[in-house]
Amino acid sequence: MVADPAAFYATLREHGGPVVPVHLDGEVPAWLVIGYDACNTVLRDGLLFTRDLGQWHVTKQGLLPQDWPIGPHVQPMRNMLFASGHEHQRLRGAFKTSLHKVGQRRLHATITRVADRLIEGFVEDGQADIVGQYAVPLPVAVLTQLFGFPPEDAERLQRTILTLLGGGEGALDANVGLNAMIEDHVRRRRQEPRADIVTWLLEADLSDEETRETVWLAINAGVGSTTAWAANTCEVLARAEDARTDLRSMLRDIPGVMAEVLWNHAPVQQVIGRVATADMDLHGTRVRRGDLLIISPAGANLDHDRFGGRALRADYVESNASHLAWGSGAHECPAPGLATAIVRGGVERLWTRLDDIHLAFPGQPTQWSPSIIVRLPARLDIAFDPVRARKRAATLAPIGDR
Ligand code: HEM
Repeated sequence: MVADPAAFYATLREHGGPVVPVHLDGEVPAWLVIGYDACNTVLRDGLLFTRDLGQWHVTKQGLLPQDWPIGPHVQPMRNMLFASGHEHQRLRGAFKTSLHKVGQRRLHATITRVADRLIEGFVEDGQADIVGQYAVPLPVAVLTQLFGFPPEDAERLQRTILTLLGGGEGALDANVGLNAMIEDHVRRRRQEPRADIVTWLLEADLSDEETRETVWLAINAGVGSTTAWAANTCEVLARAEDARTDLRSMLRDIPGVMAEVLWNHAPVQQVIGRVATADMDLHGTRVRRGDLLIISPAGANLDHDRFGGRALRADYVESNASHLAWGSGAHECPAPGLATAIVRGGVERLWTRLDDIHLAFPGQPTQWSPSIIVRLPARLDIAFDPVRARKRAATLAPIGDR
Protein backbone atom coordinates (compact mmCIF):
# COMPACT_ATOMS: atom_id res chain seq x y z
CA MET A 1 0.00 0.00 0.00
CA VAL A 2 2.74 2.41 0.92
CA ALA A 3 5.25 1.57 -1.83
CA ASP A 4 2.87 1.33 -4.81
CA PRO A 5 -0.69 2.39 -3.98
CA ALA A 6 -1.96 2.16 -7.58
CA ALA A 7 -0.95 -1.53 -7.84
CA PHE A 8 -2.14 -2.24 -4.29
CA TYR A 9 -5.66 -0.86 -4.77
CA ALA A 10 -5.97 -2.44 -8.23
CA THR A 11 -5.24 -5.89 -6.75
CA LEU A 12 -7.57 -5.29 -3.81
CA ARG A 13 -10.34 -4.19 -6.18
CA GLU A 14 -9.83 -7.17 -8.46
CA HIS A 15 -10.16 -9.67 -5.60
CA GLY A 16 -12.49 -7.88 -3.18
CA GLY A 17 -14.45 -5.23 -5.10
CA PRO A 18 -15.06 -1.67 -3.88
CA VAL A 19 -15.63 -2.56 -0.18
CA VAL A 20 -13.14 -4.96 1.44
CA PRO A 21 -12.82 -6.39 4.97
CA VAL A 22 -9.68 -5.32 6.89
CA HIS A 23 -8.23 -5.47 10.41
CA LEU A 24 -6.82 -2.40 12.12
CA ASP A 25 -4.05 -2.65 14.76
CA GLY A 26 -4.97 -5.20 17.42
CA GLU A 27 -7.19 -7.25 15.05
CA VAL A 28 -9.98 -4.65 15.19
CA PRO A 29 -12.34 -5.40 12.24
CA ALA A 30 -13.55 -2.75 9.77
CA TRP A 31 -14.48 -2.26 6.10
CA LEU A 32 -12.15 -0.38 3.75
CA VAL A 33 -14.11 1.48 1.05
CA ILE A 34 -11.86 1.88 -2.00
CA GLY A 35 -14.32 2.37 -4.89
CA TYR A 36 -14.89 5.98 -6.00
CA ASP A 37 -18.68 5.51 -6.25
CA ALA A 38 -18.89 3.56 -2.99
CA CYS A 39 -16.90 6.29 -1.17
CA ASN A 40 -19.31 8.92 -2.48
CA THR A 41 -22.32 6.85 -1.37
CA VAL A 42 -20.93 6.65 2.17
CA LEU A 43 -19.70 10.25 2.44
CA ARG A 44 -22.86 11.84 1.08
CA ASP A 45 -25.44 9.95 3.14
CA GLY A 46 -25.19 11.19 6.71
CA LEU A 47 -28.26 9.19 7.82
CA LEU A 48 -27.19 5.71 6.72
CA PHE A 49 -23.53 6.41 7.62
CA THR A 50 -22.95 8.43 10.75
CA ARG A 51 -19.77 10.27 11.75
CA ASP A 52 -20.64 9.50 15.40
CA LEU A 53 -18.09 6.77 16.10
CA GLY A 54 -19.77 6.15 19.46
CA GLN A 55 -22.23 4.05 17.38
CA TRP A 56 -19.48 1.62 16.36
CA HIS A 57 -20.27 -1.77 17.95
CA VAL A 58 -16.65 -2.22 19.09
CA THR A 59 -16.79 1.05 21.10
CA LYS A 60 -20.33 0.39 22.33
CA GLN A 61 -19.39 -3.02 23.71
CA GLY A 62 -16.17 -1.66 25.29
CA LEU A 63 -14.03 -3.98 23.14
CA LEU A 64 -11.40 -1.42 22.02
CA PRO A 65 -7.91 -2.55 23.14
CA GLN A 66 -6.52 -0.36 25.93
CA ASP A 67 -3.89 2.18 24.76
CA TRP A 68 -5.01 1.56 21.16
CA PRO A 69 -2.77 3.86 19.04
CA ILE A 70 -5.70 5.05 16.92
CA GLY A 71 -7.70 5.71 20.14
CA PRO A 72 -7.36 9.54 20.23
CA HIS A 73 -8.80 9.71 16.69
CA VAL A 74 -11.98 7.76 17.44
CA GLN A 75 -12.86 9.03 20.93
CA PRO A 76 -16.06 11.05 20.54
CA MET A 77 -15.44 14.77 21.23
CA ARG A 78 -17.50 17.96 21.34
CA ASN A 79 -16.43 19.18 17.94
CA MET A 80 -17.84 19.25 14.42
CA LEU A 81 -16.30 15.95 13.35
CA PHE A 82 -18.50 13.95 15.72
CA ALA A 83 -21.59 16.15 15.43
CA SER A 84 -24.46 16.01 12.96
CA GLY A 85 -27.40 18.14 11.83
CA HIS A 86 -27.84 21.56 13.41
CA GLU A 87 -25.10 21.02 15.99
CA HIS A 88 -22.65 20.19 13.19
CA GLN A 89 -23.61 23.31 11.24
CA ARG A 90 -23.21 25.52 14.34
CA LEU A 91 -19.72 24.21 15.17
CA ARG A 92 -18.54 24.09 11.56
CA GLY A 93 -20.01 27.54 10.86
CA ALA A 94 -18.10 29.05 13.81
CA PHE A 95 -14.87 27.47 12.56
CA LYS A 96 -15.31 28.62 8.95
CA THR A 97 -16.20 32.15 10.07
CA SER A 98 -13.02 32.26 12.18
CA LEU A 99 -10.90 31.05 9.25
CA HIS A 100 -12.39 33.74 7.00
CA LYS A 101 -11.20 36.39 9.42
CA VAL A 102 -7.56 35.49 8.74
CA GLY A 103 -6.43 38.27 6.41
CA GLN A 104 -4.84 37.02 3.19
CA ARG A 105 -1.89 39.42 3.38
CA ARG A 106 -1.13 38.45 6.96
CA LEU A 107 -1.44 34.78 6.05
CA HIS A 108 0.91 35.12 3.11
CA ALA A 109 3.44 37.09 5.17
CA THR A 110 3.32 34.49 7.99
CA ILE A 111 3.89 31.62 5.57
CA THR A 112 6.73 33.41 3.77
CA ARG A 113 8.47 34.36 7.02
CA VAL A 114 8.29 30.80 8.35
CA ALA A 115 9.48 29.47 4.98
CA ASP A 116 12.44 31.88 4.94
CA ARG A 117 13.46 30.98 8.49
CA LEU A 118 13.45 27.27 7.60
CA ILE A 119 15.35 27.81 4.33
CA GLU A 120 17.97 29.93 6.16
CA GLY A 121 18.57 26.89 8.38
CA PHE A 122 19.99 24.83 5.49
CA VAL A 123 20.68 27.14 2.54
CA GLU A 124 24.44 27.36 3.15
CA ASP A 125 24.75 23.53 3.18
CA GLY A 126 23.72 23.04 -0.46
CA GLN A 127 21.59 20.08 0.64
CA ALA A 128 18.73 19.24 2.99
CA ASP A 129 16.19 16.64 3.97
CA ILE A 130 13.32 18.63 2.53
CA VAL A 131 10.74 16.57 4.45
CA GLY A 132 12.24 16.81 7.96
CA GLN A 133 13.70 20.31 7.55
CA TYR A 134 10.90 21.96 5.58
CA ALA A 135 7.62 20.15 4.85
CA VAL A 136 7.19 18.90 8.43
CA PRO A 137 7.92 22.10 10.42
CA LEU A 138 6.25 24.54 7.97
CA PRO A 139 2.49 23.85 8.47
CA VAL A 140 2.75 23.31 12.21
CA ALA A 141 4.62 26.60 12.67
CA VAL A 142 2.13 28.54 10.51
CA LEU A 143 -0.96 27.03 12.13
CA THR A 144 0.23 27.54 15.72
CA GLN A 145 0.86 31.23 14.88
CA LEU A 146 -2.58 31.65 13.30
CA PHE A 147 -4.18 30.11 16.40
CA GLY A 148 -2.25 32.68 18.43
CA PHE A 149 -0.15 30.36 20.61
CA PRO A 150 2.57 32.36 22.38
CA PRO A 151 5.97 32.26 20.59
CA GLU A 152 7.67 30.92 23.75
CA ASP A 153 5.45 27.78 23.58
CA ALA A 154 5.94 27.29 19.85
CA GLU A 155 8.82 24.83 19.93
CA ARG A 156 7.35 22.57 22.66
CA LEU A 157 3.93 22.71 21.02
CA GLN A 158 5.31 21.76 17.63
CA ARG A 159 7.34 18.85 19.07
CA THR A 160 4.27 17.59 20.94
CA ILE A 161 2.03 17.76 17.88
CA LEU A 162 4.53 15.92 15.70
CA THR A 163 4.94 13.18 18.35
CA LEU A 164 1.16 12.77 18.55
CA LEU A 165 0.81 12.58 14.77
CA GLY A 166 3.71 10.12 14.52
CA GLY A 167 1.56 7.61 16.51
CA GLY A 168 3.19 4.74 18.40
CA GLU A 169 5.13 5.19 21.64
CA GLY A 170 4.80 8.61 23.19
CA ALA A 171 1.66 9.54 21.22
CA LEU A 172 -0.74 9.14 24.13
CA ASP A 173 1.47 11.22 26.49
CA ALA A 174 1.85 13.83 23.74
CA ASN A 175 -1.93 14.01 23.50
CA VAL A 176 -2.18 14.78 27.22
CA GLY A 177 0.50 17.50 26.82
CA LEU A 178 -1.23 19.02 23.80
CA ASN A 179 -4.58 19.16 25.58
CA ALA A 180 -2.97 20.96 28.54
CA MET A 181 -1.38 23.59 26.25
CA ILE A 182 -4.65 24.13 24.38
CA GLU A 183 -6.53 24.48 27.68
CA ASP A 184 -4.09 27.14 28.95
CA HIS A 185 -4.30 29.02 25.69
CA VAL A 186 -8.12 29.06 25.50
CA ARG A 187 -8.27 30.32 29.12
CA ARG A 188 -5.73 33.04 28.23
CA ARG A 189 -7.72 34.16 25.17
CA ARG A 190 -10.99 34.22 27.13
CA GLN A 191 -9.26 36.89 29.29
CA GLU A 192 -7.06 38.61 26.71
CA PRO A 193 -8.65 38.47 23.24
CA ARG A 194 -6.33 39.09 20.27
CA ALA A 195 -6.58 38.87 16.48
CA ASP A 196 -6.28 35.08 16.19
CA ILE A 197 -8.44 32.04 15.41
CA VAL A 198 -8.90 31.00 19.06
CA THR A 199 -10.25 34.46 19.94
CA TRP A 200 -12.61 34.37 16.94
CA LEU A 201 -13.93 30.92 17.92
CA LEU A 202 -14.78 32.27 21.38
CA GLU A 203 -16.37 35.35 19.80
CA ALA A 204 -18.50 33.01 17.65
CA ASP A 205 -20.09 31.86 20.92
CA LEU A 206 -18.37 28.51 21.30
CA SER A 207 -17.95 27.39 24.91
CA ASP A 208 -14.42 26.91 26.28
CA GLU A 209 -14.80 23.14 25.88
CA GLU A 210 -16.04 23.43 22.29
CA THR A 211 -13.20 25.83 21.47
CA ARG A 212 -10.58 23.48 22.99
CA GLU A 213 -11.89 20.49 21.07
CA THR A 214 -12.20 22.45 17.83
CA VAL A 215 -8.58 23.60 18.14
CA TRP A 216 -7.49 20.01 18.90
CA LEU A 217 -9.37 18.80 15.80
CA ALA A 218 -8.03 21.53 13.53
CA ILE A 219 -4.45 20.80 14.58
CA ASN A 220 -4.87 17.05 14.18
CA ALA A 221 -6.75 17.28 10.90
CA GLY A 222 -4.60 20.09 9.49
CA VAL A 223 -0.95 19.54 10.33
CA GLY A 224 -0.21 16.01 9.05
CA SER A 225 -2.29 16.41 5.90
CA THR A 226 -0.78 19.78 4.91
CA THR A 227 2.70 18.43 5.64
CA ALA A 228 2.03 15.45 3.39
CA TRP A 229 0.77 17.63 0.53
CA ALA A 230 3.82 19.92 0.79
CA ALA A 231 6.25 16.98 1.01
CA ASN A 232 4.81 15.21 -2.01
CA THR A 233 4.76 18.39 -4.08
CA CYS A 234 8.46 18.88 -3.23
CA GLU A 235 9.04 15.24 -4.14
CA VAL A 236 7.60 15.71 -7.64
CA LEU A 237 9.70 18.88 -8.13
CA ALA A 238 12.92 17.30 -6.92
CA ARG A 239 12.48 13.95 -8.67
CA ALA A 240 11.24 15.01 -12.11
CA GLU A 241 13.56 17.02 -14.34
CA ASP A 242 10.64 17.48 -16.76
CA ALA A 243 8.50 19.07 -14.01
CA ARG A 244 11.32 21.54 -13.24
CA THR A 245 11.83 22.33 -16.93
CA ASP A 246 8.08 22.86 -17.43
CA LEU A 247 8.00 25.19 -14.40
CA ARG A 248 10.92 27.26 -15.72
CA SER A 249 9.35 27.56 -19.15
CA MET A 250 5.94 28.26 -17.56
CA LEU A 251 4.29 25.26 -19.21
CA ARG A 252 3.24 24.28 -15.68
CA ASP A 253 2.90 26.07 -12.40
CA ILE A 254 3.14 25.01 -8.75
CA PRO A 255 -0.68 24.82 -8.29
CA GLY A 256 -0.75 22.37 -11.24
CA VAL A 257 1.82 20.12 -9.54
CA MET A 258 -0.15 20.42 -6.28
CA ALA A 259 -3.34 19.30 -8.07
CA GLU A 260 -1.57 16.26 -9.50
CA VAL A 261 -0.42 15.35 -5.99
CA LEU A 262 -3.98 15.58 -4.59
CA TRP A 263 -5.04 12.87 -7.06
CA ASN A 264 -2.07 10.54 -7.04
CA HIS A 265 -0.81 10.94 -3.46
CA ALA A 266 -3.98 11.92 -1.57
CA PRO A 267 -2.53 13.52 1.60
CA VAL A 268 -5.23 11.91 3.80
CA GLN A 269 -5.15 8.36 2.48
CA GLN A 270 -7.84 6.90 4.74
CA VAL A 271 -10.59 8.61 6.71
CA ILE A 272 -11.64 6.85 9.94
CA GLY A 273 -14.56 6.81 9.38
CA ARG A 274 -18.30 6.29 9.36
CA VAL A 275 -20.57 3.80 11.15
CA ALA A 276 -23.41 2.04 9.32
CA THR A 277 -26.73 2.81 11.01
CA ALA A 278 -28.59 -0.12 9.32
CA ASP A 279 -27.89 -3.51 7.75
CA MET A 280 -27.43 -2.99 4.02
CA ASP A 281 -25.92 -4.00 0.71
CA LEU A 282 -23.11 -1.52 -0.01
CA HIS A 283 -22.06 -1.83 -3.66
CA GLY A 284 -22.24 -5.64 -3.44
CA THR A 285 -20.97 -6.13 0.15
CA ARG A 286 -23.19 -7.03 3.10
CA VAL A 287 -22.54 -4.46 5.84
CA ARG A 288 -24.20 -4.61 9.29
CA ARG A 289 -25.50 -1.86 11.54
CA GLY A 290 -22.73 -0.72 13.92
CA ASP A 291 -19.87 -1.70 11.51
CA LEU A 292 -16.99 0.75 11.01
CA LEU A 293 -16.24 1.94 7.45
CA ILE A 294 -12.89 3.45 6.57
CA ILE A 295 -13.16 5.65 3.50
CA SER A 296 -10.13 5.62 1.26
CA PRO A 297 -9.55 8.82 -0.76
CA ALA A 298 -6.32 7.15 -1.89
CA GLY A 299 -8.18 4.13 -3.27
CA ALA A 300 -11.01 6.23 -4.74
CA ASN A 301 -8.70 8.61 -6.61
CA LEU A 302 -6.84 5.67 -8.15
CA ASP A 303 -10.03 3.80 -9.08
CA HIS A 304 -9.17 2.62 -12.58
CA ASP A 305 -12.63 1.03 -12.96
CA ARG A 306 -13.97 4.60 -12.78
CA PHE A 307 -11.21 6.66 -14.40
CA GLY A 308 -9.41 4.16 -16.62
CA GLY A 309 -5.70 4.95 -16.58
CA ARG A 310 -6.38 8.67 -16.61
CA ALA A 311 -6.04 9.22 -12.88
CA LEU A 312 -2.27 9.06 -13.29
CA ARG A 313 -1.93 11.60 -16.13
CA ALA A 314 -0.88 15.11 -15.14
CA ASP A 315 -2.78 16.96 -17.90
CA TYR A 316 -6.07 15.21 -17.00
CA VAL A 317 -5.84 15.61 -13.24
CA GLU A 318 -4.62 19.23 -13.18
CA SER A 319 -7.88 20.63 -14.48
CA ASN A 320 -10.18 18.21 -12.66
CA ALA A 321 -11.18 18.65 -9.01
CA SER A 322 -13.51 15.65 -8.73
CA HIS A 323 -10.98 13.76 -6.56
CA LEU A 324 -11.89 12.87 -2.98
CA ALA A 325 -8.78 14.31 -1.32
CA TRP A 326 -10.97 16.78 0.64
CA GLY A 327 -13.65 14.19 1.33
CA SER A 328 -17.24 14.97 0.31
CA GLY A 329 -20.64 15.67 1.85
CA ALA A 330 -21.38 17.43 5.14
CA HIS A 331 -17.97 16.74 6.72
CA GLU A 332 -15.77 17.54 3.74
CA CYS A 333 -12.71 19.56 4.67
CA PRO A 334 -13.68 23.09 5.71
CA ALA A 335 -10.13 24.40 5.20
CA PRO A 336 -8.96 23.70 1.62
CA GLY A 337 -8.23 27.42 1.14
CA LEU A 338 -5.96 27.59 4.17
CA ALA A 339 -4.20 24.32 3.30
CA THR A 340 -3.71 25.50 -0.30
CA ALA A 341 -2.28 28.84 0.86
CA ILE A 342 0.24 27.10 3.14
CA VAL A 343 1.42 24.55 0.59
CA ARG A 344 1.45 26.96 -2.34
CA GLY A 345 3.14 29.72 -0.31
CA GLY A 346 5.72 27.29 1.09
CA VAL A 347 6.57 25.50 -2.16
CA GLU A 348 6.62 28.70 -4.25
CA ARG A 349 8.99 30.32 -1.75
CA LEU A 350 11.24 27.28 -1.87
CA TRP A 351 11.18 27.35 -5.68
CA THR A 352 11.82 31.12 -5.77
CA ARG A 353 14.89 30.72 -3.60
CA LEU A 354 16.21 27.33 -4.82
CA ASP A 355 15.11 26.86 -8.40
CA ASP A 356 17.66 24.13 -9.10
CA ILE A 357 16.62 21.65 -6.38
CA HIS A 358 17.12 18.05 -7.40
CA LEU A 359 17.53 14.71 -5.67
CA ALA A 360 20.86 14.35 -3.86
CA PHE A 361 20.86 10.61 -4.70
CA PRO A 362 18.90 10.39 -7.99
CA GLY A 363 18.92 6.59 -8.29
CA GLN A 364 17.37 6.06 -4.87
CA PRO A 365 13.67 5.20 -4.73
CA THR A 366 11.55 7.27 -2.31
CA GLN A 367 11.26 5.71 1.14
CA TRP A 368 7.65 6.25 2.27
CA SER A 369 6.66 6.70 5.89
CA PRO A 370 4.71 3.64 7.10
CA SER A 371 1.57 5.63 8.12
CA ILE A 372 -1.72 4.29 6.75
CA ILE A 373 -3.37 7.69 7.26
CA VAL A 374 -1.09 10.25 5.63
CA ARG A 375 1.13 9.62 2.64
CA LEU A 376 4.57 11.23 2.80
CA PRO A 377 8.20 10.33 2.17
CA ALA A 378 10.07 9.38 5.38
CA ARG A 379 12.87 11.71 4.17
CA LEU A 380 13.92 13.27 0.88
CA ASP A 381 17.51 14.38 0.40
CA ILE A 382 17.73 17.23 -2.06
CA ALA A 383 20.71 19.23 -3.32
CA PHE A 384 21.09 22.71 -4.84
CA ASP A 385 23.78 25.29 -5.55
CA PRO A 386 24.20 27.49 -2.41
CA VAL A 387 26.04 30.24 -4.34
CA ARG A 388 23.17 30.55 -6.81
CA ALA A 389 20.74 30.53 -3.84
CA ARG A 390 22.62 33.38 -2.14
CA LYS A 391 22.53 35.49 -5.33
CA ARG A 392 18.78 34.90 -5.67
CA ALA A 393 18.22 35.78 -1.98
CA ALA A 394 19.82 39.20 -2.59
CA THR A 395 17.04 40.01 -5.09
CA LEU A 396 14.12 39.25 -2.72
CA ALA A 397 11.81 42.03 -1.56
CA PRO A 398 11.49 42.46 2.24
CA ILE A 399 8.37 40.87 3.79
CA GLY A 400 7.62 43.17 6.75
CA ASP A 401 7.14 41.97 10.29
CA ARG A 402 3.37 41.92 10.86
C1 HEM B 1 -3.80 18.92 2.49
C2 HEM B 1 -4.49 19.33 3.51
C3 HEM B 1 -5.79 18.71 3.97
C4 HEM B 1 -6.47 17.61 3.51
C5 HEM B 1 -6.10 16.71 2.35
C6 HEM B 1 -7.64 17.47 4.33
C7 HEM B 1 -8.58 16.47 4.17
C8 HEM B 1 -9.73 16.34 4.92
C9 HEM B 1 -10.73 15.32 4.73
C10 HEM B 1 -10.65 14.17 3.72
C11 HEM B 1 -11.73 15.54 5.62
C12 HEM B 1 -13.02 14.74 5.72
C13 HEM B 1 -13.11 13.89 6.98
C14 HEM B 1 -14.39 13.10 7.02
O1 HEM B 1 -15.14 13.07 6.04
O2 HEM B 1 -14.64 12.43 8.03
C15 HEM B 1 -11.35 16.70 6.39
C16 HEM B 1 -12.11 17.23 7.41
C17 HEM B 1 -11.67 18.26 8.20
N1 HEM B 1 -10.52 19.03 8.02
FE1 HEM B 1 -9.18 18.85 6.57
N2 HEM B 1 -7.66 18.47 5.26
C18 HEM B 1 -6.55 19.25 5.07
C19 HEM B 1 -6.19 20.38 5.79
C20 HEM B 1 -6.89 20.90 6.84
C21 HEM B 1 -6.52 22.07 7.59
C22 HEM B 1 -5.30 22.95 7.32
C23 HEM B 1 -7.46 22.20 8.57
C24 HEM B 1 -7.57 23.26 9.66
C25 HEM B 1 -6.65 24.05 10.08
C26 HEM B 1 -8.42 21.13 8.42
C27 HEM B 1 -9.53 20.93 9.22
C28 HEM B 1 -10.49 19.97 9.02
C29 HEM B 1 -11.65 19.81 9.88
C30 HEM B 1 -11.99 20.68 11.09
C31 HEM B 1 -12.39 18.74 9.36
C32 HEM B 1 -13.73 18.19 9.89
C33 HEM B 1 -14.89 18.85 9.16
C34 HEM B 1 -16.26 18.41 9.63
O3 HEM B 1 -16.39 17.42 10.38
O4 HEM B 1 -17.25 19.07 9.26
N3 HEM B 1 -8.04 20.36 7.35
N4 HEM B 1 -10.13 17.18 5.93
